[in-house]
Amino acid sequence: MRKVSDKVKNLPPYLFAKLNERKKELTEQGVDVIDLGIGAPDLPTPDFVINELIRTVQKPENHRYPAYDGNADYKEAVAHFYKQHYNVDLNPETEILALIGSKEGIAHLMQAMLNPGDRVLLPNPGYPVYQTAVQMAGAEVEKFSLTEDYHFTPQFDQMNAITDEVKLMLLNYPGNPTSATVNLNTFLKAVTFAKKHNLIIAHDAAYDLVTFDNYKSPSILQAPNAKDYAIEFGSLSKSFNMTGWRIGYVVGNEKVINSLATLKSNIDTGQFTPIQKAAIKALTSDLSSVKKNNDILQDRMETMHQGLMDMGIKSGKPRGSIFIWAKVPKGLTSSEFAERLLDEAGIIVTPGNAFGSAGEGYFRVAITVAKERIEEVITRMKKLDFQEVYIKE
Ligand SMILES: Cc1ncc(COP(=O)(O)O)c(C=O)c1O
Repeated sequence: MRKVSDKVKNLPPYLFAKLNERKKELTEQGVDVIDLGIGAPDLPTPDFVINELIRTVQKPENHRYPAYDGNADYKEAVAHFYKQHYNVDLNPETEILALIGSKEGIAHLMQAMLNPGDRVLLPNPGYPVYQTAVQMAGAEVEKFSLTEDYHFTPQFDQMNAITDEVKLMLLNYPGNPTSATVNLNTFLKAVTFAKKHNLIIAHDAAYDLVTFDNYKSPSILQAPNAKDYAIEFGSLSKSFNMTGWRIGYVVGNEKVINSLATLKSNIDTGQFTPIQKAAIKALTSDLSSVKKNNDILQDRMETMHQGLMDMGIKSGKPRGSIFIWAKVPKGLTSSEFAERLLDEAGIIVTPGNAFGSAGEGYFRVAITVAKERIEEVITRMKKLDFQEVYIKE
């Protein structure tokens, strides 16, 4: 058997593949494992979206290859959504590209934009796909830390040594894993920074609609002149509970969109038309299904947050995302804490260091199980012999 490529050989195993193995082992031993690890929504896709898939899948004309860069009506629906929700105008022909989920687009962006020697600024902690995608493109990663002191937002004025090789910067709000949110001001600064250093900002807005109370997450494209420097990834996965459907988009800078479209036309042939049709229904809806969803998530989030506080575990109270980012009790590393939770209580959380070195000392909880299960998590955690480490501040 010939050897696989160095590119693949050097990739770490995808974090959740490892966790899933351990979960399987424990489940086989009869443990009732509660998985707050992977951020996969448990709630169903709305009926009106499913019904559109059923209706359109029966039409033979929808069984053909779709357009490479997304069907025209799908791209118009994305434009409609940006106008309605953000008051941002987009040209569907040049400033919008359909994706087979935003993960696919993020990973391919690196292949489309980077040459060996190019450098990319990535958040630490951050979504692990950014780093592996940059590495697979043969480019270099430069991390910037997101810290609690600055509410996990980038401090552009502290980023001084930006060389010509830095071509791209990734941002992600509401953030995974920190659940941090920003106001438009952060994006205004980001665009100024991009202009100063002549780089591209890719904002990953995978959780854009998953917000609580009256908070509305901004689009980077709302910043003046953003289209000169920025693109934004969007996804239907979290907003409409459509993770398995694999549908998303990228919008913004025409040149970047075009380069990604060219690359992708040599790799995939778009997403199945009935899935695009169903996504159109979602994007052009009144978003009341999103609101209903968010109310359920907020109730879970508040239950979990209160439970953690009662135990003396510090965490921010998120305004968005499906995560809680909490401090590991004193005396344990992130991995030790996550291992003890799994082995002693059958609870899966993700150790913060899985998202980068600055995640050490934290753990991430995905609020993707029913409220009763979250209550069960809290009960189990309270029973654990962590008295020595649950220190009230
Ligand atoms: C920050 C972030 N970006 C992108 C994605 C990918 O989402 P999808 O490929 O389902 O659109 C995820 C999924 O977990 C994520 O957490």
